[in-house]
Amino acid sequence: TGNTTLDPGYTNTASCVSKITFIDGDKGILRYRGYPIEQLAEHATFGEVAYLLIYGELPTEQEMSTFQDKVLGAAMLDERMRDLFRCFPRKSHPMSVLASGVNALAAFNSGHLSVTDEEQIETATIRLLGQFPTLAAYAYKSSLGEPFLYPKKNMGYVANFLRLSFGSPLEEYELDEAVARAFDTLFVLHADHEQNCSTSTVRLVGSAEANIYASVAAGVNALSGPLHGGANQAVLEMLGQIRDQGLDAKSFVSKVKDKESGVKLMGFGHRVYKNFDPRAVIIKKHADEILTSTGKDNALLEIAKDLEEIALNDEYFKERKLYPNVDFYTGLIYEAMGFPSSYFTALFALGRLPGWIAQWREQMAEPGRKIGRPRQVYIGETERDYPVK
Ligand code: CMC
Repeated sequence: TGNTTLDPGYTNTASCVSKITFIDGDKGILRYRGYPIEQLAEHATFGEVAYLLIYGELPTEQEMSTFQDKVLGAAMLDERMRDLFRCFPRKSHPMSVLASGVNALAAFNSGHLSVTDEEQIETATIRLLGQFPTLAAYAYKSSLGEPFLYPKKNMGYVANFLRLSFGSPLEEYELDEAVARAFDTLFVLHADHEQNCSTSTVRLVGSAEANIYASVAAGVNALSGPLHGGANQAVLEMLGQIRDQGLDAKSFVSKVKDKESGVKLMGFGHRVYKNFDPRAVIIKKHADEILTSTGKDNALLEIAKDLEEIALNDEYFKERKLYPNVDFYTGLIYEAMGFPSSYFTALFALGRLPGWIAQWREQMAEPGRKIGRPRQVYIGETERDYPVK
């Protein structure tokens, strides 16, 4: 129709300009605000990275401490939100409950839903950062039917989240520092990834001037899909199936190559990375360390390694430039830390939150921004008359 160009999946369409994240997919480069992901993963905390993404520069010590105090000070949910969790059936998927919870935050924070008032945007940013981990942990706790704990101001962001997820009111929570550090790194690696499916969703919803909670809730829903963030859960389920059915990695890869089977090698392939995913390289090192230190059964890691080796040397994957992505190893790490696979994608969401917020804020600050409204190529019936009887 007219000058409309068809680009399903937006493989070649830029939807915005951005100063936040740079990716060169051919070279495997990822930078937040100019800083290479490798350096941030090694030296920066998740809090610093969140600040960097949202405000554009790394925080000074003073700025970081004020930011952290504000975020942790906002971590408690309105007491009435407990009723929201109660109404979900036991074993609900934490992503469904989390998305509903984020959406509900708009109702509980009606005083700062503006998309233009800077003070309101700032308050909403802090509340969202503070309350999101509490929501995620309560989504998990309610799926188990376990009691909720209150967040504590004198614990770090990640430590608080781990305690809310794994702690019990019966005893003091003993933080495993190594696990907390590993989580911090994983969150840094997930914090932003330019215009991926969930972030584009956040921006598209935001482009209608929907508030930040509504926009981020939409992002959580997009992330839940198995081709996006849901892949970390799908990878573990795939490895479990291979183990339980006594399959070997080679025959599973043959099945994947047979298009008729409809089976994909989950955790492989990426729209942008056509060489390697720099996040997967960093995570792979951690997976080995964590699985060794937790002494967990390494059967799944062995299957994962076999799959990787076979796929990387196979023509099907080489021709299509399919490499392990960030989700290939995270599932194994999360499992070793004691999370059930249904919780994995919520962990991804927690890491991605600063990116969603930063991108939504950047969009709202853009002069002359426009509502997102793609066109289509119509292929349906031409005009026809209603059969009047
Ligand atoms: N297993 C088997 N074949 C694959 C896979 C895979 N994982 N990924 C892509 N292909 C094939 C695909 O069938 C196609 O083959 P052909 O050219 O013969 O039709 C070719 O490779 C190109 O793939 P595509 O589907 O056109 O690529 P895309 O950019 O549209 O999709 C993707 C990217 C990530 C959705 C896809 O690679 C995939 O489904 N991977 C598995 C799910 C996954 O791991 N997702 C996590 C992505 S990274 C983190 C995140 O975003 O959350």
